[in-house]
Amino acid sequence: MANQIINYGAIVVSAAWMLLIALCKITAGSTTETEALLRWKQSLPHQSILQSWVTPATNNSSNAQSPCGWRGITCNTAGNVIQINLAYTGLEGTLDNLDFSSFPNLLSLDLKENQLEGSIPQNIGILSKLQYLDLSTNSLNGTLPLSLANLTQAFELDVSRNNLTGELDPRLFPDGKDQPKTGLISMKRFLIQNTKIGGRIPNEIGNMRSLVLLDIDLNSFYGPIPPSIVNCSQLSIILISKNHLSGPIPFNFGRLSKLTHLQFFTNNLSGSVPQGIGNLSMLTALHLAENNFTGQLPPQLCRGGKLVNFSAAHNSFTGPIPVSLRNCQSLHRVRLEYNQLTGYIDQDFGVYPNLTYMDLSYNKLQGHLSPNWGACQNLTVLRIGGNMIIGRILDEILQLKQLGHLDLSSNQLSGEISTEIGNLSSLSILRLNDNKFFGKIPISIGLLSKLQFLDISMNMLSGPIPFQLGDISNLLSLNLSQNFLNGTIPYQIGNLIALQVLLDLSYNSLSGEIPTQLGKLTKLISFNLSHNYLTGSIPSSLSDMLSLSSINFSYNQLEGPLPESNIFNSSQLEDFINNKGLCGKIQGLQPCKTSVTAQGGKDKKHKPVIIVVASLGIAFLGSWMLVGIFAFLSNKKAKFNSKEEDPTRNREYPFSVMYFNGKILYEDILEATKNFDDMYFIGEGASGKVYKAEMPSGQVIAVKRFSSQVNGLGVESAKTFKNEITTLTETRHRNIVKLHGFCSTGMHVFLVYEFMERGSLSDMLRNDKEAMELDWPKRVEIIQGVARALSYMHHDCVPPILHRDISSKNVLMCSDLEAHVSDFGTARFLEFDGSNWTTFAGTYGYAAPELAYTMAVTEKCDVYSFGVLVLEVLMGKHPGDLISKIQILDVESINVKDVLDPRLPPPVYKKIVHELQLVMKLVVSCLQVNPQSRPTMRNLSQLLEAEIFRG
Ligand SMILES: *[C@@H]1O[C@H](CO)[C@@H](O)[C@H](O)[C@H]1NC(C)=O
Ligand SMILES: *[C@@H]1O[C@H](CO)[C@@H](O)[C@H](O)[C@H]1NC(C)=O
Ligand SMILES: *[C@@H]1O[C@H](CO)[C@@H](O)[C@H](O)[C@H]1NC(C)=O
Ligand SMILES: *[C@@H]1O[C@H](CO)[C@@H](O)[C@H](O)[C@H]1NC(C)=O
Ligand SMILES: *[C@@H]1O[C@H](CO)[C@@H](O)[C@H](O)[C@H]1NC(C)=O
Repeated sequence: MANQIINYGAIVVSAAWMLLIALCKITAGSTTETEALLRWKQSLPHQSILQSWVTPATNNSSNAQSPCGWRGITCNTAGNVIQINLAYTGLEGTLDNLDFSSFPNLLSLDLKENQLEGSIPQNIGILSKLQYLDLSTNSLNGTLPLSLANLTQAFELDVSRNNLTGELDPRLFPDGKDQPKTGLISMKRFLIQNTKIGGRIPNEIGNMRSLVLLDIDLNSFYGPIPPSIVNCSQLSIILISKNHLSGPIPFNFGRLSKLTHLQFFTNNLSGSVPQGIGNLSMLTALHLAENNFTGQLPPQLCRGGKLVNFSAAHNSFTGPIPVSLRNCQSLHRVRLEYNQLTGYIDQDFGVYPNLTYMDLSYNKLQGHLSPNWGACQNLTVLRIGGNMIIGRILDEILQLKQLGHLDLSSNQLSGEISTEIGNLSSLSILRLNDNKFFGKIPISIGLLSKLQFLDISMNMLSGPIPFQLGDISNLLSLNLSQNFLNGTIPYQIGNLIALQVLLDLSYNSLSGEIPTQLGKLTKLISFNLSHNYLTGSIPSSLSDMLSLSSINFSYNQLEGPLPESNIFNSSQLEDFINNKGLCGKIQGLQPCKTSVTAQGGKDKKHKPVIIVVASLGIAFLGSWMLVGIFAFLSNKKAKFNSKEEDPTRNREYPFSVMYFNGKILYEDILEATKNFDDMYFIGEGASGKVYKAEMPSGQVIAVKRFSSQVNGLGVESAKTFKNEITTLTETRHRNIVKLHGFCSTGMHVFLVYEFMERGSLSDMLRNDKEAMELDWPKRVEIIQGVARALSYMHHDCVPPILHRDISSKNVLMCSDLEAHVSDFGTARFLEFDGSNWTTFAGTYGYAAPELAYTMAVTEKCDVYSFGVLVLEVLMGKHPGDLISKIQILDVESINVKDVLDPRLPPPVYKKIVHELQLVMKLVVSCLQVNPQSRPTMRNLSQLLEAEIFRG
């Protein structure tokens, strides 16, 4: 924002001078300035931006010496350089050789948004006339030079988004009275956002009496907010969020009557908020969230009627909602969730024509829903879960055409769910669970075509499940459990093929048979029909539900054989107990007497394989919040332990604690990638982009960012998810890229990986120069490494983990050119995108042929893809048609030398020729059309190690 607040005066003046210069040719330019600029240019890498910085060879007039016409240079009438502006030019290099002493008249130095490195020169203070200094968004390091104190004329200083360290020296802001000749005493806009500067904020900061904007967001400041800040009476914007500040807001803060924007969120501030803040009549934004504030919110908030954005979420505020909020028509966003606010919500809130977001979840609010909500026509998010609201859902609320997220869960609402609910045509999340609703589920819910998460569990609903629910084609999670629903399960539920997270119909009174059509739910991960009166057998079609990782059929009247599929072979007895006569291979269950081969003769031999990451789908949790499980990267520890222990919070938001860590991580990633600036972009896959990010700890990571429409997570699945992501993050193997964790926001999902300096094998092979680096011995090592990784995941992990998408894009190279397999077990996850989700696993050109006609993904699919990959490593390019030739020819007829990458000299040493021949044989066996004929990864890995290292 402030980057754009430029010294307009200087611009106008300098533009005028430039015109004069052009018209009158009054150019002079001191020789020392010219020389200083040329010397600086000489010290920089060659760059076209400085092309105009030359003195012509034929300089017969002194004018030719002048730098005044050079790009970015502005002079005054006397021909002295008064402005250097090379902002946004991609300028590279350092400031080390820019001799500031040569520019005694310089008023403005603007080098923002470049690639400058090194430190800010110590003698910068010699520019004693400087008014405007913007070095923001570069890669400068070191500390702020003390000589900045000499810039007594400067009204704007912006060093944001650099790698600066150190503290704010109090001597930069000496008391104007004692030493009137030094200090940043004219400063109006002081910006040090997102650097590594920290320490205490010096009390002397209060000496910047003209200060209008103070932005020290996202640094490491700790200690209190100095009380002297109230002496900066011109302050309009204070941004100090995301530091480690503690203590209270100074009591007389209300004296800063010009404040419009006050941002304190994510610190450790405590105590009660001074009442005077309510007196700030210009205030448009007040952010207090994620601190440790107590006491009441100031009753006079919004006194000026200008408040737009108000957040106080995740504190310990008590007492009532401020009375003045009731008539605060200017409000757009209000977030008060996770406090202990009391009061009656039907009395405390008015009509807000611009309101889009209202979150009051997890407070102690009482009363009925207010018809006023229905008049907030722009509302997109209304969350009031976890309070003590009674009464019915008013029809007024059910007319909100923009509403995308309605969460009234965990209250004491009752009555029937009105059929008007079908009017909420924008709804994607509807949570009415844990209330006292009764009557039937309105069939109009089937009209909510955008719905993704529907949870009406834990109510007293009765009657049948409307078959119209089968029309909600975008549904990802459906929870109707713990009601009194009866009748049969409508076969149309099988049409919900997008269902992925959860289908829970347990603890109802459902009867009849399980519809065979449910077998179509091939993406579903968690499936619970327990505690009903279901009869008949479990349809064999359910063996098609290949994503299942959690099932429960217990407490029904089911009988007969279990379907033949991994999940039905590997589940626990508890998932089937208390039925009439189920039989199957589960330990403790009676074995089936007669042959069950009639079931379709699928490959019965293959071992139970749980595709661990199938359950990652559950990971699309967190809905509108940010969620993560990254204790390891987080710089805020168990700050909210007390909240974690609160059972009500855990019940609804199992990751509420992670929210903070997750958020911090997310913010760190945003910072580290400058909001996913292309500068940090390192690669692109089918489902998202990969960025390089250096975390505040110095750790470099790769962030894979998918676009995703997915929101919300059922509580029930949270544990499963946590366990399974943990399995993956705990996997350690030198040839597997470490998955650090996972994070999700409303819009995006991120996987966080170890960073691999050399990028993908695919890219290396495609680049002639890099391909040459991969000589024959190195290529053999790469093949060995990938084989070790696959062997480990297939044979040493319990349960085995399949990759499902081996290709040269998923093999990454570290600086030592050692191969690391990435995206292990995440193939299914990667494909999750709604639009292009496909049950066809793998990348075209690497996928085993059987995948075209069966969805049975086995280890042997990985073996096939490995074979293609190996061939690619030998050939230096994807083998294409050669694969099908190999499948029909015999090994001997293929001359290895014809296959090898022509860019490399042919191998000469016997050993390596022998190795390549062996590798080629292995390739042929991997590419067998019949999966049974392919070797296991363990065989392959052992062969490669034994033959090659000892042979
Ligand atoms: C501060 O400015 C004065 C001139 O006003 C100059 O003589 C002195 O060298 C400057 N100090 C520094 C540290 O640059
Ligand atoms: C930032 O500074 C730290 C130490 O101050 C250094 O280790 C790191 O490499 C720097 N990062 C960049 C991008 O300059
Ligand atoms: C504000 O400035 C006055 C006058 O310089 C000073 O006496 C007072 O201590 C300052 N207030 C704070 C809180 O520092
Ligand atoms: C708020 O303003 C009113 C009237 O201007 C004044 O009487 C009151 O003292 C102020 N409150 C605070 C806490 O500053
Ligand atoms: C928050 O404040 C309470 C008392 O007001 C204190 O007991 C608690 O330790 C504080 N929590 C943090 C994280 O500072």
